[in-house]
Amino acid sequence: MKGNPKDFGFSTRAIHAGQPPEATTGAVAVPIFQTSTYVHDEFGQHKGFEYARGENPTRAALEANIAALEGGVGATAYASGMAAISALVTLLHSGDRVIASRDMYGGTFRYFSKILDRYGIDFTYVNTADLSALEAAMTPETKMVYIETPTNPLMEITDLAGAAKIAHAHGAVLAVDNTFLSPYLQRPLEHGADLVVHSATKFLNGHSDSMGGLLVAASQEHHDWFVFVQKSAGAILGPMDCFLILRGIKTLGVRMDRHESNTQAIVRLLADHPKVGTILYPGLPAHPGHEIQRRQATGFGGVLTFDVGSTEAAATLLNRVQVLSLAESLGGVESLISHPASMTHASVPKENRDKIGITDGLVRISVGIEDEADLVGDLRQALEAI
Ligand SMILES: Cc1ncc(COP(=O)(O)O)c(C=O)c1O
Repeated sequence: MKGNPKDFGFSTRAIHAGQPPEATTGAVAVPIFQTSTYVHDEFGQHKGFEYARGENPTRAALEANIAALEGGVGATAYASGMAAISALVTLLHSGDRVIASRDMYGGTFRYFSKILDRYGIDFTYVNTADLSALEAAMTPETKMVYIETPTNPLMEITDLAGAAKIAHAHGAVLAVDNTFLSPYLQRPLEHGADLVVHSATKFLNGHSDSMGGLLVAASQEHHDWFVFVQKSAGAILGPMDCFLILRGIKTLGVRMDRHESNTQAIVRLLADHPKVGTILYPGLPAHPGHEIQRRQATGFGGVLTFDVGSTEAAATLLNRVQVLSLAESLGGVESLISHPASMTHASVPKENRDKIGITDGLVRISVGIEDEADLVGDLRQALEAI
């Protein structure tokens, strides 16, 4: 691709941005630069690469690619989504306050509440889908608003532009975990967010064969800080994983379309099913965040949550499926089914889970790209066993 990535559509950018043919051979796929250091041409002169914690060409290609897809000035890549979140929070100082979505990935909650709390950073959890609750929670000490939309696993939707306005009015930055939708469906920086984080382990990689985290900044100042943090703290993403995630991103658009059409077929099955209670999926017109999501995203994604009434019923369903696999994680080509209360959200205290609605009967599916009829048939037979 020659020219400015901004002039091209999403999938063209996904395939080409940051990935010109390799200079010495013309290799169309960015090579895996598996090296720890680089030889200098002569004293005081090198090619821009000194030591691989600071610079790696495969990593640089992935970083340029995600920056182009999210519309940021730059991006930094880390060993996992949690490592990217750890880099993000280095913007904070002791005494600062963060307002975070009350329902979020359990590992992020664990990091905030069990580790960062010890460094004098205060975390307040609110339902950010309710902008008046967000506004009411803001104080002069609030330096960051941290949201997931949709949330995990309750699929609550926050109005990004509204949250950005509130954060900025109080001198705070808005950081968004965009893992669930990916930039194909939602680009928070276009709605006023300052920072985007990803668990690239999920939809970006898409094949459940690597881990990674990405942090995209809207401002040069933030990006320069994260480049410094990445090099200094050292939680970098290795070149092999960068290669795998770059390869995954090339098919992101077609995969997301299929994830979503399969999800809609499953929602149709569940909607009429006597064993199924509440279905949480923002694509349903009755979902309270449906209209906001229509406005700020171009789709509803491939994750849904529903209630089957009890731990026993959930266990029966999870043990009976044959095409879906009982596993944590999401965003891969294969469909995964999990029980948030005992798996991804076990680190959230039961009283908090009960308060916000992560019930014992809740089941989450990350819908893969298998044949629609096989997924629907598998779930139908497994639900009958309840
Ligand atoms: C929404 C979300 N953010 C962040 C993470 C953490 O990412 P990782 O597992 O790559 O560290 C996860 C992991 O499941 C997640 O679901």
